[in-house]
Amino acid sequence: MNSSTLVKVIEGTTELLVPEAFCKKGPGTRTGEVFYNKQMEFGRDVSVMFGRAVFKEGDKILDGLAASGARGLRLANETGVRADFVLNDRNLAAAVLMKENASANSLDHVRVLCRDFRALMAEEQFDYIDIDPFGTPVDFINSAIQGCRNKGTIAVTATDTAPLYGTYPRTSLRRYGALSQRSPFAHETGLRILVGFMVREAARHDRACEPLLCYHTDHYFKCYVRVVNGAARADAAIKKLGYARFDKASLERSVSDRREDKADAGPIWTGQLLSGQLLEEMRPSKDLGTSVRCEKYLTLWKEEESSPVLFYKMDELAKRTKHSPPKLQAMVEKLLENGFKSSRTHFDPKGLKTDAPLDELLRLYKDC
Ligand SMILES: C[S@@+](CC[C@H](N)C(=O)[O-])C[C@H]1O[C@@H](n2cnc3c(N)ncnc32)[C@H](O)[C@@H]1O
Repeated sequence: MNSSTLVKVIEGTTELLVPEAFCKKGPGTRTGEVFYNKQMEFGRDVSVMFGRAVFKEGDKILDGLAASGARGLRLANETGVRADFVLNDRNLAAAVLMKENASANSLDHVRVLCRDFRALMAEEQFDYIDIDPFGTPVDFINSAIQGCRNKGTIAVTATDTAPLYGTYPRTSLRRYGALSQRSPFAHETGLRILVGFMVREAARHDRACEPLLCYHTDHYFKCYVRVVNGAARADAAIKKLGYARFDKASLERSVSDRREDKADAGPIWTGQLLSGQLLEEMRPSKDLGTSVRCEKYLTLWKEEESSPVLFYKMDELAKRTKHSPPKLQAMVEKLLENGFKSSRTHFDPKGLKTDAPLDELLRLYKDC
């Protein structure tokens, strides 16, 4: 690669040379150059917080689709853990650039590979595997599960949001073996379809996926899941798959363990998406470029960590009751005062989670 086409950017405390024509926002498009997307800095800051909380000395950490090396180099440079860091990309220009970026940050011990990810997974196992592809991750998840050590983590990015949101349900069915559905809470069902797919893929190998930190933001989903050995654990995870039903007229939404109507979305993961213990250990430290946003998300994730599934939007409640919406926080407090679970949600700034039956929710909403 001609170095005159490169510019220097800084993320956290890591310097990166990236193509001058890098993506500044949105999902980013595949170009002939090495890929870099500035908007994903928040996601990489979350990875650094995750690595600081979870990585242990001697772990083998892989950024499997590394491009410029932005994520893997930041993990090596900023987690402060003496681990075996490996960066891989099958694009030779990417491998050359990440080697240059490793040297620029005095990270010459980082191993740089130029392999097909799936071939690498057939040969080596890791404690942490990051997969951040263009679009759907379905091509890589099965290999990653096989390449992950017992109790290791796989961290998967999906930017094929339209199929998962229910805009293209047939694409979702082809890719994920799950029907998606458009609804006010489609960001949540999309994420749960992705987690459900990972659970089913792991179960094929008598392994279970345990979600640690699964979220939606901007134009993508990100799932950090622990992979553990055991057929019984895999069966227990499978039991937490179900289907989401939504009635647009009444706003009634529910989850059941079987598909009762052809419009039901799923299979979806119906268990927790977030680990409270992990969230307590993650810190939005000031050296992260998006520390304010990290703090905001950590707060929301902690609030909703054990909340019920399928959130409501204040707008749909307003439309249904013909009452203008009260403040979201006031509504959450009202539900809590009345003995129901309730929280805000990171899925939507106007989103509300609760286990209150719909008629009670509407009554308290009008009263709020
Ligand atoms: C979206 S980019 C990765 C971005 C990077 N993680 C970051 O944070 O900047 C996806 C990368 O995957 C690489 N890739 C695609 N298919 C691959 C495969 N089968 N094996 C290895 N690398 C692959 C592409 O060359 C590309 O650089």
